[in-house]
Amino acid sequence: MTHQIALQFEDGVTRFIDAKTTETVADAAYRHGVNLPLDCRDGACGTCKCFAESGRYEMGEYIDDALSELEAKQGFVLTCQMRAQSNCVVRVPASSAVCRTQQARFDAAISRVEQLSPSTISLSLRGEALNKLAFLPGQYVNLQVPGSTQTRAYSFSSLPRDGEVSFLIRNVSGGLMSSFLTQLAKTGDAMTLTGPLGSFYLRDITRPLLLLAGGTGLAPFTAMLEKIAEQGTPYPVHLIYGVTHDADLVEMNKLEALAARIPQFTFTACVASEDSAWPKKGYVTQHLEPAHLHDGEVDVYLCGPPPMVEAVSLYIRERGLQPANFFYEKFAASA
Ligand SMILES: Cc1cc2nc3c(=O)[nH]c(=O)nc-3n(C[C@H](O)[C@H](O)[C@H](O)COP(=O)(O)OP(=O)(O)OC[C@H]3O[C@@H](n4cnc5c(N)ncnc54)[C@H](O)[C@@H]3O)c2cc1C
Ligand code: FES
Repeated sequence: MTHQIALQFEDGVTRFIDAKTTETVADAAYRHGVNLPLDCRDGACGTCKCFAESGRYEMGEYIDDALSELEAKQGFVLTCQMRAQSNCVVRVPASSAVCRTQQARFDAAISRVEQLSPSTISLSLRGEALNKLAFLPGQYVNLQVPGSTQTRAYSFSSLPRDGEVSFLIRNVSGGLMSSFLTQLAKTGDAMTLTGPLGSFYLRDITRPLLLLAGGTGLAPFTAMLEKIAEQGTPYPVHLIYGVTHDADLVEMNKLEALAARIPQFTFTACVASEDSAWPKKGYVTQHLEPAHLHDGEVDVYLCGPPPMVEAVSLYIRERGLQPANFFYEKFAASA
């Protein structure tokens, strides 16, 4: 039996490998051409120490100098002794280059490009190669802008299905990718993806979740919610989705459909602009209720344009709110 291991390198690159329950994660990585840091291979030196973010595994023999009892309790592992018993996410304290691996490259073609509103584009890509693309919901890829050497980062807005992946993209006036997608792109056009990348992804759900999205920062959350719909959760999940203008409010049908599939999922959508006709006005923080914070026993995920992420982070810090975990992603413009 094999399990899938997501190896997360410190430069943000993720590589997925299959590991048999009987082989060590270090051996499985080597079989896939990934050289994890190793020395003794015997549980004695600690060189192969990594952090298991999630998953079940068995550890073979090792000495305390290599991995202390406390470290093992915290989730640190020795990959030369670790045998996966379920899918796992393992954080490697080295760059992908040091481990002689690199971002994978995938060729695909546009299967659908649609302007959902003047400010927002939905893009889907399909291709044989994408059947091999695995990512953690919340992660992103770099998409090359056709006709140029430049790339732009986009978070997956859905799970991969039959070789197809989707994105939710803000139409930035005069932007390179935005102009391509609104003026030139058509079904069948070739596009190249490299990745997956990023440490903003859904962790094991062990407490309530609060998801805070600004504009197309909704994208990683619809992918995460698809995963939650598939696996189920006993914990409440609340999303607050804020946009600037009414025209920016998209994918409401998708959110309604996800709410119908996930009994514990609720959401609030709000519009900041004063001339909005939407019933819920104001910023994301104005719709944050004490009940959403579960007295701190909550994992908060926040994603959107940098000013929104900074404003919400500041709001949370200034009020002394201390969630159990706080993950965020800023949709920074490329240099
Ligand atoms: C990790 C990561 C994930 C991302 N995921 C997404 C995603 O899922 N969806 C999404 O829409 N975007 C996402 N972005 C942002 C995206 O990569 C691009 O920056 C954005 O789409 C603009 O690309 P463009 O080629 O159209 O414009 P560019 O040619 O890059 O920019 C044109 C001009 O507009 C400015 N500009 C660029 N972006 C903005 C902005 N948001 N607001 C105001 N001015 C801007 C630039 O500084 C420049 O002056 C992500 C960014 C990062 C870092
Ligand atoms: S390589 Fe020495 S403990 Fe794993």
